[in-house]
Amino acid sequence: MSVKVTIVGTGYVGLTTAVCLADLGHDVVAVDVNAEKIARLSAGDPVIHETGLKRLLVANLASGRLTFSNQMSDAVRRADLVMIAVGTPPQADGHVDLTFVEEAADDIAPHLAGFTVVCVKSTVPAGTNRRVGELIAYANPRADFALLSNPEFLREGRAIEEFMNPERVVLGAEDPRALAVGRAVYEPLTKRGRPLLTTSIESAEVAKYAANTFLAARLALLNEFADICEQVGGDIEEVVGVLSADSRIGPHFLEPGPGFGGSCFPKDVGAVAYLCEGLGDAGGLIRTILPSNARRQQRLARRILEVCAVEPRQLRIGALGLTFKADTDDVRDSPAIAVIEHLKRAGAHILAYDPAGMANARQAVTAIDFAGDAYEAAAGAHAVVVLTEWQEFRALDLAKLRAAASGPDLFDFRNVLDRQAVERAGFILHRTGAASPSRRHDRVAVAAQPRSRQRSRARS
Ligand SMILES: NC(=O)c1ccc[n+]([C@@H]2O[C@H](COP(=O)([O-])OP(=O)(O)OC[C@H]3O[C@@H](n4cnc5c(N)ncnc54)[C@H](O)[C@@H]3O)[C@@H](O)[C@H]2O)c1
Repeated sequence: MSVKVTIVGTGYVGLTTAVCLADLGHDVVAVDVNAEKIARLSAGDPVIHETGLKRLLVANLASGRLTFSNQMSDAVRRADLVMIAVGTPPQADGHVDLTFVEEAADDIAPHLAGFTVVCVKSTVPAGTNRRVGELIAYANPRADFALLSNPEFLREGRAIEEFMNPERVVLGAEDPRALAVGRAVYEPLTKRGRPLLTTSIESAEVAKYAANTFLAARLALLNEFADICEQVGGDIEEVVGVLSADSRIGPHFLEPGPGFGGSCFPKDVGAVAYLCEGLGDAGGLIRTILPSNARRQQRLARRILEVCAVEPRQLRIGALGLTFKADTDDVRDSPAIAVIEHLKRAGAHILAYDPAGMANARQAVTAIDFAGDAYEAAAGAHAVVVLTEWQEFRALDLAKLRAAASGPDLFDFRNVLDRQAVERAGFILHRTGAASPSRRHDRVAVAAQPRSRQRSRARS
C-alpha cells in the first residue's frame, strides 16, 4: 500500500528517508526551510556525499514519487504521515536543543487536514514526542492526529544500504492507528524479513540513546586498551582478534582509532550524560565516555609531537583525512579535526587533504592549509598522519608519498596501511594501538619498573 508521506527536514536522515521511501513505492514530499537546498535537490543534486544517493534521487524524481518543496501547507495537507527529521543539536552543556523540532511542530500544526500520523524521526529525549503532540493540539485544537516515534539508526556513509536493510525498525506508539500507518510505510522492508519492533513512545525515544551510548562506550573502551598497548606493548589488532572470538563480545564495531565523532555519538552521549546529572547519581559510567574520547585525541596529538621531536612551531604535518569517518563529507565533531586542533594549538603547521570533506572542513577549521591530494599534503611534512579510513588512502603510492615528505614518520591512526609496504617505502610506521618503533626499549623499561621498585623498597 502506497502511503502519502511528508518529510520535514532534508538533512542526512530526512533526505535518505525521502529517497528510500519513494523508492519503496510511497508518494513522498520532502520539505526544508533552506530554499537553496530544495532547488538543488529538485534538480537532482544530492547536496551531500552518500553512496548510492544520487542514483535513487534522480530515479525517484523522474518517477514522480518524490518531490521537494519549501511550502509546508500543501505538503502537510496531503499527508497520511508527517515525519519530522530536523536537527537536534547540542547546547554547550550537552542539553539537546529542541528548537527545530518545536518549530517544525508549529509549522505543521495549522495545515493538518483529516487524520494524520505525526512521527518524530529525529533523535529526541523521552517526552519530546508528547511535547510535539501538545504543541500541535495547542496550535490547532481541531487537528485529528496520532503520534508515532520512529528513531533512525542508519550510519552515514552507508545510509541508503542501511535504510533499505535495517537491523530493526522501531515504532513507538500507543494509538493503533499510528502503528497501522507506520507498519504500512515499512511493509516493503518487513515483507523482506526485516524486523519491526513496537514499543511505547518513551521506550523508542530512550532506545535510540541507549544504542548510541553502548556503541560509543565500546569504542572508548577499546581505545583505552589501544592507549595501553601504545605505552606498555601489545598490539590492539591482536587484542581485537582475541575479543572478537568471544561470542559475548562479538566481532563488530571494534575499530581502534582516534575516537568517535560525527553528528550523533558525541551529541547523544552528551545528552544522556546531561540527563543523568539531573537524576542525581545516575549514569556514573556514561558520564566518563566523552572525557575518555577527548583524552584519546589529545594523547594521539601528543604522540606525534613526542615522536617528531621538532620544535612544535617548526613542525609541519601532512594530515590525510578530515571527515569523522570514511564515505561521508561530514566533519561535524570529527576526531580527525580534534587531533589537528591539538597539533595546531601546540604551534604545528597543518596541510590537510580529504577526498570528500574539504568543502565542509574549510567552514569548520581555520588556520590550516588545504592540499589538492595526499601527496601535496605530504609535501615537505615532518610527519604524515592518516586520520580517516578512506579507501583512497589504502591505495596510495607509498614511495611517492615518502618522496614528498621531508621526515620519515608516518602515523596510521586508522591502521589502514599495509605495514610492510609502508616500511618498504622508507617510512617509520606508528600504528594505532601499538608502541612506536623507536619507543620499544622504553616500553620494556616501563614494564619492568614496578618489580624493581618493590625490590628496592624491600631492601630499604
Ligand atoms: N546524521 C546521522 O547519521 C543520523 C543518524 C540517526 C539519527 N540522526 C538524527 O536525525 C536528526 C536529523 O539529523 P541530520 O543529520 O539529518 O540533520 P541535518 O542538520 O543534516 O538536517 C536537518 C535539516 O532540517 C532542516 N530544518 C530545520 N528546521 C526545519 C523546519 N522547521 N522545517 C523544515 N526543515 C527544517 C534544516 O534546514 C536541515 O536541512 C537528528 O536528530 C539526528 O540526531 C542522525
